[in-house]
Parts: sequence; C-alpha cells; structure tokens
Amino acid sequence: MTVLHIDSSIQGENSITRQISAAIVERLTAEQSGADVRYRDLAAQPLPHLTLPGFGTDEAAAVLAEFLAADTVVIGAPMYNFTISTQLKAWIDHIAVAGKTFRYDESGNAIGLAGDKRVIVALSRGGFYGAGTPAAAVEHAESYLRAVFGFIGIVPEFIVAEGAAVGPEHRAAGIEAALAAVDQLEVKVAA
Ligand SMILES: Cc1cc2nc3c(=O)[nH]c(=O)nc-3n(C[C@H](O)[C@H](O)[C@H](O)COP(=O)(O)O)c2cc1C
Repeated sequence: MTVLHIDSSIQGENSITRQISAAIVERLTAEQSGADVRYRDLAAQPLPHLTLPGFGTDEAAAVLAEFLAADTVVIGAPMYNFTISTQLKAWIDHIAVAGKTFRYDESGNAIGLAGDKRVIVALSRGGFYGAGTPAAAVEHAESYLRAVFGFIGIVPEFIVAEGAAVGPEHRAAGIEAALAAVDQLEVKVAA
C-alpha cells in the first residue's frame, strides 16, 4: 500500500483538515505493516503557480510521479473563500496533465487515466453548505474536487466537518462527526 498524504491548511495546529487527514491515514495504515506513506505539506512547502516553463521542471515531474505511484491519496482540503486553498490548487495543476492523467478520445470526450487510485478528502468548512442550505450554491470546494478528480477518472470519497466558524460547539460537533466517519471508513487490508 502506497499512501500519499497531503495537507494544505494554513492554520497549523488549529487546522481541522490536518487532524482529520491524519486520522484517515492512521486508520488506513494501522493494520498495514508495510504501508509506504509519503507526506507533502503544501502550506509549509508550497508548489509554484503554473507557468509555461514550469511544466518542464524536475519538481513538476516529481510531483506527478509521486501522485501516479500512490494507490491511495489522502488530502486535507480546507475551504477558503468558497473553494480549496491556493496551495492545493497549485498541486492539482501539477497532477492534471494531458497524456498522463487524462486524454481525449477521437470524439473529444475526456478519458480519465488515473482511475486505479482511491482518493479520500478531509474537507472542513466554516459554515454549513449541505443540500438545501442557502449556501449550497456557493460550495466550490467539494464540488470542484469531485469535478477535477472525476475528470482524471477517480470518484473521490469525502469526510466533511462543517460549522468551524459558527461557534465552538459547532466546531467540536463537526470534528466529532468527521472523526466518527473516519472510524467507519472501509479499510482494505492486503492479504
Ligand atoms: C482565509 C480563510 C478563508 C475562509 N473562507 C471560508 C469560506 O469561504 N467559507 C466558509 O464556510 N469558511 C471559510 N473559512 C473557514 C474555514 O473553512 C475553516 O476554518 C476550516 O476549518 C478550514 O480548514 P482548516 O481548519 O484545516 O484550515 C475560511 C477560513 C480562512 C482562514
């Protein structure tokens, strides 16, 4: 089992997504003695924004290779300004690569090439964005990640904490619910 663990919160030890992503990795690997876990902290060591020359760098190749080598990817994804962090977006810009993670067929349909991976996202939002809420229409973090991973062939799983900014009780309840969901995650132990 090769796990790529990514964090992208700017909130350090107060980060909810860091807490949840760590719990997910712990659950997935607890029974896997030979698990190979790679960790990338995109807030501590940000990747560059896209530039044309940037496509050809050794760093860009290494980031893509690291993603392609992982069979499981765990991503801490905070909602900032209604979408994912700019640090996480820069990482996605490195892994959405034509000919590597997607291609187009003769009819112009996109074909995802990374469908052999499991992607689990730990998402935290300050407010409430569930179906039927007034804010649902401006949820562009989970919806964006579903779209971009779907584009490269992956149906991501989400563990969501909500209400972090509403008050301490909502924050605690959101974390508790998310950690309970981590305990229910399906774990595939290699024979
Ligand atoms: C710069 C910044 C922008 C934020 N923008 C939003 C937002 O647009 N909507 C929202 O519901 N919460 C917002 N929040 C609250 C975060 O989603 C919340 O703190 C969440 O826990 C972030 O994940 P983290 O704790 O891992 O950093 C924002 C927080 C910060 C620091």
